Amino acid sequence: MEKEKITKIYEDAEREVSEIDSSEKLQETKVKFLAKKSVLMSLLSSLGLLPPEERKSFGQSLNEVREKIARLFEVKEEEIRKVELQKKLQKEQIDITLPAKNMDVGGVNPFYVVKDEITDIFLNMGFEVADGPEVETDLFNFELLNIPKDHPARDMQDTFYISENVLLRTHTSPVQAHTMQAAEGKPIRIICPGKTYRRDDDDATHSHQFAQIEGLVIDKNINIGHLKATLELFVKKMFGEKREIRLRPSYFPFTEPSVEVDITCANCNGKGCSMCKGTGYIEILGGGMVHPNVLKMNGYDPDVYSGFAFGIGIERVAILRYGIDDIRKFYQNDVRFLHQYRKKA
Ligand code: DAH
Repeated sequence: MEKEKITKIYEDAEREVSEIDSSEKLQETKVKFLAKKSVLMSLLSSLGLLPPEERKSFGQSLNEVREKIARLFEVKEEEIRKVELQKKLQKEQIDITLPAKNMDVGGVNPFYVVKDEITDIFLNMGFEVADGPEVETDLFNFELLNIPKDHPARDMQDTFYISENVLLRTHTSPVQAHTMQAAEGKPIRIICPGKTYRRDDDDATHSHQFAQIEGLVIDKNINIGHLKATLELFVKKMFGEKREIRLRPSYFPFTEPSVEVDITCANCNGKGCSMCKGTGYIEILGGGMVHPNVLKMNGYDPDVYSGFAFGIGIERVAILRYGIDDIRKFYQNDVRFLHQYRKKA
């Protein structure tokens, strides 16, 4: 009688499990047959009411059938899992033959294009790239460049001060002093591209942050002819073979003599137009022969060594090169501006 009950439970389970077609239904049926309140479990808990001689074999049969039912569920579970996975894959199938969405290819900011080009030109001439801090001391930004505390040249280079003697560098020239001190009297041929800062009101031609490339060559017998030849080569590589340069006397405290370098206007080829304000030339950089005081202060004997230096405004070169009318465009990252310089994909 009890045996029949068990057989019936198994048969019911077998039938119901075979009809299951979803994991929800599986869960429901599992509870019905195997949970605490199932018929099978209530039989198990009533074992104690049977006479002792029947208890053992009935208990065994109950356990066996429970295991068999559990196995039925395991098999079904695996089956359902496969079917549901298949359904999911089918539903989420993507059509790889659809035309792809075009990826928007960005452009390199023309500032960086020009910075890299200038750097490459000088690397090809045998220069190395040096680096220096943007947060500088008064000593390196001014004093070691022959600009003492009350020097009027400081007026043009007001900047952001962190403390009385610590400031954001106003030019890349302090890298000259750093490099000389580290080179300990050996010959030098470096450029240093980097950010510079000044207390300027931002407008179309001024920005509180801009960038320069410093150049420094120190060796025995360096003269101004080397400076001119180096800059001439740079200008022709950067702006084209037709560009001529002109050196004008100028003044910088850290060079003597100092020059301002102009190039013939690309717009009118030196004839004079509105772009060059009728002069035929456009100023692009400053340079000169390293001042003996600067050599001395940074560990070089000016009677043995001489050198030249120059400072190029990166944005200025980029503006001339691309005809950009507002320096602020380099920093705003407006995609309408940047897209004009993107490479064709
Ligand atoms: N440091 C100068 C400036 O920011 C530019 C400059 C002029 C750099 C002459 C030099 C140089 O190395 O020789 O205005």
